[in-house]
Amino acid sequence: MKKPCSTQDRSDRSPVGVEVSGLSKKYGNQTVLRDVSLSVVPGEIFVIMGPSGSGKSVLLRQIAGLDSPTAGTVRINGLDPMNPETRDRFALALVFQAGALFNSLSVYDNLALYPLEHRLCPKKDIHDRVMRALKILSLENAAKKFPSELSGGMKKRVAIARALVMEPQLMLYDEPTSELDPVMSATISEIIATLKHEFQVTTIVVSHDRDLALTIGDRVAILMKGELRTVSTAAELRRVTDPDVVDFLNPQIDLKNPRYQKLEAL
Ligand SMILES: Nc1ncnc2c1ncn2[C@@H]1O[C@H](COP(=O)(O)OP(=O)(O)OP(=O)(O)O)[C@@H](O)[C@H]1O
Ligand SMILES: [Mg+2]
Repeated sequence: MKKPCSTQDRSDRSPVGVEVSGLSKKYGNQTVLRDVSLSVVPGEIFVIMGPSGSGKSVLLRQIAGLDSPTAGTVRINGLDPMNPETRDRFALALVFQAGALFNSLSVYDNLALYPLEHRLCPKKDIHDRVMRALKILSLENAAKKFPSELSGGMKKRVAIARALVMEPQLMLYDEPTSELDPVMSATISEIIATLKHEFQVTTIVVSHDRDLALTIGDRVAILMKGELRTVSTAAELRRVTDPDVVDFLNPQIDLKNPRYQKLEAL
């Protein structure tokens, strides 16, 4: 990846490692994450799967430094992502679950907004970065469109392009294939794998998408009720015997013993 034109000189652009140790998160008296520990190796695609409400997005927000842990630590190349003094020593970008595009801005302006506001580069360089990201995601023809004029798949690609403009060493994706048809989901999975390969960017993907996890994930973690049940390669995951994990990966519809009757009240 091209050397960034940030005011801070990030001379080391190598992919970063992520270390999560004993992480717990409580909101009020609800414990959402319990003693989660994991290591993400520089340059790998690490997928976090788990049922709805198991704490995946909360975990990703902790890794991104958007929210502080109740206990435990997150370290990115040994640095605390919440520490403003060291925060710009690595480049991190988060692709939000709902895209988080600004509806009143064109696709081009959505991509250019953050680097312009934070004066990451001279305007000309920001323009070049935006155009390059649009080209990589095949969005050149959508530059002048507004989010309301885009399909779900295009919005996902715009959100990825916006992250790419940050020239990240660590890309975090929250449900990048949700609400997409199987072909578009496969396309997004290919894009994630290609970006990781071309730019050697360490990648963490939160996803329900089993095909994505088993196809492009170097390792897959399963989070259930805030606890890590397993961290495995795709091959190992097929041999896991934990009945909850097996049921999560291969749910059977059972009309004689329906699960909806066993849903926990919130
Ligand atoms: N800011 C917050 N304040 C209070 N509770 C929260 C907050 N953010 C998340 N939670 C709670 O934490 C739990 C886990 O939420 P999270 O969004 O991480 O789930 P998830 O695994 O990402 O689910 P999904 O697959 O549906 O996106 C939920 O019960 C949610 O209500
Ligand atoms: Mg979520």
